[in-house]
Formats: sequence, structure tokens, C-alpha cells
Amino acid sequence: MPTTIPLDDAVRSSVLSTAPLPGRTDSPVLLQVQGLRVAYGKAEVVHGVDFEVRRGEFVVLLGRNGAGKSTMLHALCGLVPKKAGQVRFDGRDIGALDPRAIVRAGIVNVLEGHRVFTQLSVEDNLLVGTYARKSSGDRSRLGRAYELFPELHERRHQLASRLSGGQQQILAVAQGIIAEPQLLILDEPSGGLAPIVIDRILKVARELCDSGISILLVEQLVKEALQYADYSYLIETGTVGGHGTPAEVQAGELISRIYLGG
Ligand SMILES: Nc1ncnc2c1ncn2[C@@H]1O[C@H](COP(=O)(O)OP(=O)(O)OP(=O)(O)O)[C@@H](O)[C@H]1O
Ligand SMILES: [Mg+2]
Repeated sequence: MPTTIPLDDAVRSSVLSTAPLPGRTDSPVLLQVQGLRVAYGKAEVVHGVDFEVRRGEFVVLLGRNGAGKSTMLHALCGLVPKKAGQVRFDGRDIGALDPRAIVRAGIVNVLEGHRVFTQLSVEDNLLVGTYARKSSGDRSRLGRAYELFPELHERRHQLASRLSGGQQQILAVAQGIIAEPQLLILDEPSGGLAPIVIDRILKVARELCDSGISILLVEQLVKEALQYADYSYLIETGTVGGHGTPAEVQAGELISRIYLGG
């Protein structure tokens, strides 16, 4: 028996009416990945993937464990070698750049399971984030992180080791934000966290997106991610299995593949 996923009201009304579903933004493309292939030794795990993030867009990559999502992100950030494919960012080919140059170009990847520096204070951890880009050590950038996450301001002089797991994850996200990327990649920021923390992080990601930072998120929590994202790709064993706006995804058969795959 195929699983029936209840449609939310907005989607149901757009399905029932004859009006077209809301489409993808027509903003210019910021990140374009074409024909990406990645192998670990002889084992190819990403088999020619195409996807893009448009300027000001919040894109989510969905897909089951081991589908190759993190590998794709590592490859586009220069952290693992590409077997084939092109990566263009902000109009330039960044495929041959090293990871530092890619950060300087404006892409910051908050890695899956990212650990903060537990023996540094919260504030020093944030200052580390400023070293990723020019104007390193610039304290004026702390304000934005503290505004988004007041609990980090309250605990700014504490060692990061004293923070809870959720607070450390928030600190990791704040470290990424403080580097002032054009594109912020969040690889499963929800990993192992309480629903309330996940919701916080996704809301902040949406807020950042609305303030002009494009977002590329990997997330297992399909419902939550589709609530905040503008566009989604389903990654199935190293390939793109489908893509669409959240409304398109939920109105079509892709949603059941996402749930069954997830
Ligand atoms: N360093 C590595 N060396 C060898 N194989 C690896 C390495 N990292 C990942 N893999 C393999 O590559 C495949 C894709 O892994 P990847 O971590 O990219 O998946 P993922 O979609 O991010 O999964 P998850 O949702 O669990 O984080 C898996 O089969 C994994 O075992
Ligand atoms: Mg992963």
C-alpha cells in the first residue's frame, strides 16, 4: 500500500484550485554544480549530479543516510577531490580552488557533526569564525551573532565545553554566520538535537536567507525542512532523484519517495 501523506492546507488549496503551484524564484544562479562525480578510492558514490542555488534562495538536499549528500558538499568546498564536474559560484569557475580560497569566495560549510573548540570561550570561538574571511579578528561582527543567538551573548565568557550539545551546535552555526558568507551550507545542523533547537536553527536559517545569505541545507527532518525552504532536491544513491518547490514536491509523488527513502 503506498503511503498517503496528508497535504497541508496551502498545498491542498493550490492542488484543488486550477492556479499553478508557486514556482522557483527567477533570481540569478549563485551556485551551479554540473556533472559532479566523486569517488573514494575505486568506489564512486556521487554519479554525475546537477543542482543549483539561486541568489537569495533556501535550498534543501533531502535523502537517506549514505546517499552522498555530505560528499557532494565536501567536493564543492574542495575538501574531497572531484572525479568530474564543474562548480561555478557567483559567475566564476571555483572547481580548482582550494578550500580556503572557496571560503574567501563566499562559501562557508558548517560541517556535519561540527565540533567547536571546547577549550576556548564562546566569544573566542566566534572570533575564529572571523578568521575564515578577510578582516579577521573583527569584533564588530560579533553583534550579528549575539543578536540572532542571545544565549551566546549571555555565555560569551564561558568555555564552550560548558555549553550543552544544542548550544554547541548553535555556536557552530554562529561561527559560520560570522564569516559573512554569500552561501551558508548547513550539513544536518539538527543532528541529535531536541526539536525546539532544530526549529530555532531552521528559523535562523530562514531569517538569514531573508536578509540576503543564500542557504544550502542538508536535513533528514523532511517536514520541518520543507516548511522553511524555497526549493528541494532529493538525493538518491549519488544521483538527483527529483526536485521541486516544497509545494510541487508535496503535491506530487516525490514526497512519498522522500519519506520512503528517508
Ligand atoms: N571518507 C570516506 N571514505 C570512504 N567512503 C566514504 C567516506 N565518506 C563517506 N563514504 C561513503 O560514501 C557514501 C556517501 O556518504 P555521505 O557521508 O556522503 O552520505 P550522506 O548522504 O551525507 O549520509 P548521512 O545522511 O548519513 O550523513 C556512503 O556509502 C559512505 O559510506
Ligand atoms: Mg552526511
